[in-house]
Amino acid sequence: MYDTKTVKGFSKQTKEEKIAWLIDTFFEGDATVKEVLASHSHSSSSQQRILDGFSENTIANFPMPYGVAPNFLIDGTTYCVPMVIEESSVVAAAAAAAKFWMSRGGFKTTILGTEKVGHISFVWPGEADRLQDLFPEIETAIRRSIADLTANMQKRGGGVSKLYLKDFTDQEPGLYQIVGHFETVDSMGANFINSILETAAETIRCFFDTYKELADDERHVQVVMSILSNYTPSCTVRAEVSCPIADLGVFAGNLSPTAFAERFRMAVRIAEIDPYRATTHNKGIYNGVDAVVLATGNDFRAIEAAGHAYAARDGQYRSLSACSIDNDTFKFWIDLPLAVGTVGGLTNLHPLAKLSLDMLGKPSGAELMRIIAAAGLAQNFAALRSLITTGIQQGHMKMHLLNILRHLSATPEQEVAAVRHFCDKTVSFSAVRAFMDLGGEIEEG
Ligand code: MEV
Repeated sequence: MYDTKTVKGFSKQTKEEKIAWLIDTFFEGDATVKEVLASHSHSSSSQQRILDGFSENTIANFPMPYGVAPNFLIDGTTYCVPMVIEESSVVAAAAAAAKFWMSRGGFKTTILGTEKVGHISFVWPGEADRLQDLFPEIETAIRRSIADLTANMQKRGGGVSKLYLKDFTDQEPGLYQIVGHFETVDSMGANFINSILETAAETIRCFFDTYKELADDERHVQVVMSILSNYTPSCTVRAEVSCPIADLGVFAGNLSPTAFAERFRMAVRIAEIDPYRATTHNKGIYNGVDAVVLATGNDFRAIEAAGHAYAARDGQYRSLSACSIDNDTFKFWIDLPLAVGTVGGLTNLHPLAKLSLDMLGKPSGAELMRIIAAAGLAQNFAALRSLITTGIQQGHMKMHLLNILRHLSATPEQEVAAVRHFCDKTVSFSAVRAFMDLGGEIEEG
């Protein structure tokens, strides 16, 4: 059933035709829409062509703030961390936590693993034991067929580390997987892994078609799909901070350092126990993680999916970070699955992703994992600190004040006056509107 809002052959239209159709159909012919879209398109047509190449049916670019959080001391190196995020307080919080930990030894990180996984899922009518007996020959055939694809990666130190069979027939008749483990060095590796899996799938079909010692009914293999897994529990990094409890003083607000440390540990504990709190707690971590992942041209959906699955690895969704107090030492750490790359994908194509990686000193994939984990931990530290002391609204709404003022069309002078007026008052939309209704002027005295 077609209505007036349905369109045929849209993807084949030029960008101008698409925009004209949108304006006619959804904006009653309003010509200003064209201006809005034009003002959010790149002034250089060659740059715009690059951006358009990342997606389909593009009509403009959607701007997001690109900020930096300086003073991140990670394993003895100082980084200025690029962050793309639209939430007002995130970059400020990361920068404050980074500065705090800089004078307390900074962030220490450990790469726990860099291995990624992919699967060829197939249905085969035979017995698992029989398949297991055939597997060495299947593996040899697969390895032969993917040799060309893996040659370059092997030169860089990566490749296919393991292939093995998984039997799911207790849950679904005939269902098996061939599991591949991959090292993809500095690339995220999705294209590499998927190309290998699809080639291997073809080899499996061919094997069952042509292998001499099979009965007729053993030839019926049905490959269902071949795809990498975004769950990467063996591609993980740990970031940690620690200091004597007495050194927590300046971040403790009105609390004593000991009370702050205890309350902080309890805040993390709540997120270990309660999935409702864990979800918000981990969301705060991904405020930092996603911002760096986006700024470096990596796939934040893959990173989030892995993180949330990892948070539920023992069957209950829990905090991704942990905290301990041993005698007088406060320690706070996070283990995160992070399959990111610093070569390939958008990393060198997107002009600002490339700039971000240059700002970080052209890191390896593993180094970028360390930086992102530190950003996630810093964000979590800053959020918990606010939550257990002042609450988050004070800082959050202060940062949001300018958004509210711009929404109310404040002049630059009124903005200055409002920032001064609200420096010791609670910011809310209605309080700012009341201030503006009274003229939004700098108070005397
Ligand atoms: C807001 O974007 C993130 C927080 O809610 C995280 C948290 O509660 O830990 C502040």
